[in-house]
Amino acid sequence: MDITFLLVILQGFLLPLLKAQPGFLNLDCGGTIAYADDIGLRWIPDSNYLFGKRTNTSLTSDNKTQYKTVRYFPADDRKYCYNLNVTTGLRYLVRATFLHGNFDDNSVYPKFNLSLGATYWDTITITDVTTPVTTEMVVLAQSPFLSVCLLASSSVRFISTIELRQFIGSMYYSEFERQYLMFMVARINFGALSNASVRYPDDPFDRIWESDSSKSANYQLVDVSPGTQKLATTKPVYVSWDEEPPMKVMQTAVVGNNGTLTYTIYFANNNFQRHAGAYLYFAEIEDLNPNETRQFEARFPWGPPHLEVPVNVMENAGGKYRLYEPAFFDISLPLLAPLKFRQTNDSSRGPILNAFEIFKYNLINFGSPDSTAMDSLVSIYPQKEWTQEGGDPCSPIPWTWVQCNSDSQPRIISLKLSGKNLTGNIPQQLTNMSGLVELHLDGNSLRGVIPDFSGLRNIQIIHLENNALTGSLPLSLANLPKLKELYVQNNNLSGEIPAGLLRKNIIFFYAGNPGLYLPSKEANNNLVIILSVIGAVLMLIFIAAFYFYKCKQKENKRGKFGNLPTGQSKLLRELDAESTHRFELSEIMVATKNFEKVIGKGGFGTVYYGKLSDRTEIAVKVHDIKSKQGIDEFLNEVALLSRIHHRNLVKFLGYSQEEDTSILVYEFMNEGTLAEHLRGPPEKKIVSWLQRMEIAEDTAKGIEYLHKGCSPAIIHRDLKTSNILLDKNMRAKVSDFGLSKLMPDGSHISTMVKGTIGYLDPEYYVTQRFTEKSDVYSFGIILLELISGYNPISSENFGDSCEYIVSWARGLVESGDIEIIADKSLEPTYDIESVWKMTKIALMCVKPSRLERPSISEVLKEIQAASMIEQKASTGSVESTDLFAREAMGYPPNFDVAYSTSSECTDSYTESFIQPDLTKFNIN
Ligand SMILES: *[C@@H]1O[C@H](CO)[C@@H](O)[C@H](O)[C@H]1NC(C)=O
Ligand SMILES: *[C@@H]1O[C@H](CO)[C@@H](O)[C@H](O)[C@H]1NC(C)=O
Ligand SMILES: *[C@@H]1O[C@H](CO)[C@@H](O)[C@H](O)[C@H]1NC(C)=O
Ligand SMILES: *[C@@H]1O[C@H](CO)[C@@H](O)[C@H](O)[C@H]1NC(C)=O
Ligand SMILES: *[C@@H]1O[C@H](CO)[C@@H](O)[C@H](O)[C@H]1NC(C)=O
Ligand SMILES: *[C@@H]1O[C@H](CO)[C@@H](O)[C@H](O)[C@H]1NC(C)=O
Ligand SMILES: *[C@@H]1O[C@H](CO)[C@@H](O)[C@H](O)[C@H]1NC(C)=O
Repeated sequence: MDITFLLVILQGFLLPLLKAQPGFLNLDCGGTIAYADDIGLRWIPDSNYLFGKRTNTSLTSDNKTQYKTVRYFPADDRKYCYNLNVTTGLRYLVRATFLHGNFDDNSVYPKFNLSLGATYWDTITITDVTTPVTTEMVVLAQSPFLSVCLLASSSVRFISTIELRQFIGSMYYSEFERQYLMFMVARINFGALSNASVRYPDDPFDRIWESDSSKSANYQLVDVSPGTQKLATTKPVYVSWDEEPPMKVMQTAVVGNNGTLTYTIYFANNNFQRHAGAYLYFAEIEDLNPNETRQFEARFPWGPPHLEVPVNVMENAGGKYRLYEPAFFDISLPLLAPLKFRQTNDSSRGPILNAFEIFKYNLINFGSPDSTAMDSLVSIYPQKEWTQEGGDPCSPIPWTWVQCNSDSQPRIISLKLSGKNLTGNIPQQLTNMSGLVELHLDGNSLRGVIPDFSGLRNIQIIHLENNALTGSLPLSLANLPKLKELYVQNNNLSGEIPAGLLRKNIIFFYAGNPGLYLPSKEANNNLVIILSVIGAVLMLIFIAAFYFYKCKQKENKRGKFGNLPTGQSKLLRELDAESTHRFELSEIMVATKNFEKVIGKGGFGTVYYGKLSDRTEIAVKVHDIKSKQGIDEFLNEVALLSRIHHRNLVKFLGYSQEEDTSILVYEFMNEGTLAEHLRGPPEKKIVSWLQRMEIAEDTAKGIEYLHKGCSPAIIHRDLKTSNILLDKNMRAKVSDFGLSKLMPDGSHISTMVKGTIGYLDPEYYVTQRFTEKSDVYSFGIILLELISGYNPISSENFGDSCEYIVSWARGLVESGDIEIIADKSLEPTYDIESVWKMTKIALMCVKPSRLERPSISEVLKEIQAASMIEQKASTGSVESTDLFAREAMGYPPNFDVAYSTSSECTDSYTESFIQPDLTKFNIN
């Protein structure tokens, strides 16, 4: 719906008041006056809302003014929506509260559903007339208004308040915000000084942070570990970062003074185990002695991804009294969710926790494609009750006077506006509704001519009788292919009735139009008509038979893919054409011996070993997909994967998709991950420096292809040594590319965690976006691992007060201590010059600012240059050895340009032969 009457008036109140709290709207439903409450929020009444009724509650306990009134609606099958103006592209918190207050003196308590536009929001169940029920979402505004709708119910419905808070910057940004709304489940302030929640003005965005010692209707905290104590400070805490929790919340925390800190969260009305997310808020708020540390391991109920390394809040935040905020998207929560933090052995203080937020994702329903036409139709009659239902015309429930089909984006199939006092012309908006089957506009005061209805390809029944329509009957009516009934009686139509209409085998009423007459020749041409009718019928039978046959053929072709929505058939045919191999599930079961041997677990799912009947060894990645959308996404990724071919990318062999199981099949890489060969058992260690450089070069080529060879570029997002696989010749290939969009349970949510430390581009924290340079950062870490053999994060290897490979390596390079960097297990024959150069390259890659980092192509050139130094040092003769070595590995001598030309990924790319520019990045 467009602007309602309500809005126009509301905004009049709003403008002056909003100055105090920009981006705030406080609507006191059922209220009559504007006022400021005790915390300084300005409330405005919804007194211009046309429908429903206002009434007073009889409150005893909570005497807030906004709870003293409600607006209530009868038990009926229509929805009632409030439309709120917002700015497209900004994020908002939308909150609705319901305090019954015994307003109707009825012993049956209401229960009804709430939606935001077409998207289901929450089910409101009143069990207690004195406690407010609050429900809250964080949404990205994708249109200029949000509508809060109370859906049809067999009980009376009511509402107390609606609040809107606008966020700034990238607060609550998530990659999935265009597909999901974030429904807030819990927002807890730990170590709170009282039972009172923290909100405005302490929180400038007026989120409500509940005290960990108060009772909540949504969750309970149980099983708290002994020794848990509150901690509070009055010193300022730096919080202007990420989600910007209020300082007052960060100034209190709980600590596990006996070494552990645990909470089990019991979710009261939990039906949201899937699709959840969490933000954790930490800050060091104690002045530790310099010889003390607070470091702990975290175990989360959502299983991996964990924060894999010990958490050191002070280091992660960059100092004490500063916010450290890991966030998890794409997690699933059990009904009882245990949260466990354990102090590490070398830590002198127990774990700390200041606050967290948990939300679930509600899949956005985009509603009907006809909504624009309908919004503009109802805006013609702003004062009529039938135009006030609001929200989407079809979803989650249709307006009372329309019917919709069951498409995922439903079309209106029936529109009943009989006897609604419509005036003016027949609305033009109706003529484009291609899904419409029935149109009822009879019994109104419509004037003017009948418009061209030829856009209504599916219309069967048209009721226009009992109006004041003028002009002639348009010829186009005769051409509506599915028309069965046409009613135009009792209007002021005139002119000759089109012969085509009379010939059509339809129910056709046209009496009561004084100026309308039959075509003169009609009477004499009966024979011709009958013959042409017989001819037409034969023709129709023929055409129908032809199409029937065609459709059958299509269906057979499609049948292979099972019951997929029609939208997918095109994609699947494309996949077919791409000759992506589709494995039968049974074939995979045989190959993997019923998923016997697990060889890895990754973001995408579990990886199994398998052997096909032709003895090809395969790696099988299995993934559960529950939603149709997930399947779509999966097939899209498959289509993408099947176009990526490069010798330094693990080869994609095919896929299998049956019901809930989606499988990707890759070539099996005999030698496993690079991580194992750097830090595994001694016999696996790669001791040749030259070999490590080759691995670096191979990896860089794989990444270069993703960045430069594919259009649009593919950003890996999760490069790490456990994602670099080695084949039997110890050549490296990048794996898990192109999967970042798939999440374990099928929607496209990535498994990436903001909180994974080690490989993650620090600028990601600021921008919340991945770029090619984020991959370059991760690759820099991989280089440092190849050089040193160390884990990127370690509390042992990097000396005092240093845990991160980057700061360690920087320190050594600055002091010129390069020999210390090289892995002790390397054969000592390496040329220190090439190690030095590789270290410099690595440090260029991990520059804090993206702008300062080289592109992967530049990095590759540098690695090749460093490699030359090493080869010259060891053999004296570079070229021939190099080529010989490569041929022996089974690669053609010119394999550097041997990309598959059929691939979409090579269209825009030919490998550059730029000479390495050694000066540009100060590497020499
Ligand atoms: C509310 O939105 C409508 C457009 O949807 C706009 O015409 C109107 O001016 C807006 N009101 C205010 C006060 O911004
Ligand atoms: C609600 O209360 C106000 C004052 O408290 C009173 O003026 C008004 O009449 C009451 N309305 C109803 C419907 O009882
Ligand atoms: C009602 O509000 C007043 C201030 O407006 C407050 O002093 C009083 O404690 C409140 N009563 C209850 C029961 O909350
Ligand atoms: C709320 O919606 C769900 C489905 O979305 C439905 O199953 C349930 O019956 C509805 N509840 C009420 C009270 O209308
Ligand atoms: C926790 O530590 C305190 C001393 O710091 C000790 O008195 C208490 O018994 C410990 N509690 C448990 C359950 O270990
Ligand atoms: C840390 O140093 C302080 C003195 O500065 C000393 O009292 C304390 O025992 C030391 N703690 C540890 C764990 O070494
Ligand atoms: C239609 O309009 C007339 C006069 O304006 C009014 O008397 C009548 O009640 C209206 N009918 C409906 C159904 O709104």
